[in-house]
Amino acid sequence: MKKSNVKNRIAIYPGTFDPITNGHIDIIERASKLFDQLIISVATNLNKKPMFSTMERVEIIKKSVKNIKNVSVDTFSGLLIDYCNKKKAFVLIRGLRAISDFENEFQMALMNRKIDKNIETVFLMPSEEYTYLSSSLIKEIASLNGDISNFVSNFVNKKMKEKIKC
Ligand code: COA
Repeated sequence: MKKSNVKNRIAIYPGTFDPITNGHIDIIERASKLFDQLIISVATNLNKKPMFSTMERVEIIKKSVKNIKNVSVDTFSGLLIDYCNKKKAFVLIRGLRAISDFENEFQMALMNRKIDKNIETVFLMPSEEYTYLSSSLIKEIASLNGDISNFVSNFVNKKMKEKIKC
């Protein structure tokens, strides 16, 4: 892909977002200030078995980012790099919470660069208060009737409660 599109810098923030947490939102706010357009892309063909369907996750994310003007929400399947090219994006955003994230993220970033040398991965660190958050932990706490209100928005909290009741 040519870097001819530098005047409209499009970045993609891919992930499972099952559900989106305050830590993800923190990364989204930071990335939205660095790029002209940020596309949050929900992965649909993962080995993970998500609690929320793809469309539910998209709806929840849209509601969570509705006040950030240059952010849109989309889905993708297949190779992330193919999706980046389709969207004319040459930056991938990933959050780095702790050293433990590094190895896997490093491997993915280098593999993606090997597939397409024009696509750069930009790592952003969330605020310290979110470095221990993960969607799995939040699902576990919620399913055991624990309080997750410090980790997710009110809307996500409500959706989690509805889902757990079903
Ligand atoms: N705040 C809170 N939690 C965060 C976070 C942050 N800032 N950043 C990451 N996380 C958590 C997520 O909640 C998730 O937790 P969980 O495992 O408990 O659910 C975990 O970190 C990692 O999830 P996520 O960021 O969604 O990444 P992922 O590993 O599920 O998704 C893809 C990775 C989708 C980007 C990757 O699998 C991919 O690119 N797939 C497409 C196929 C492809 O191209 N493969 C080749 C890759 S080289």
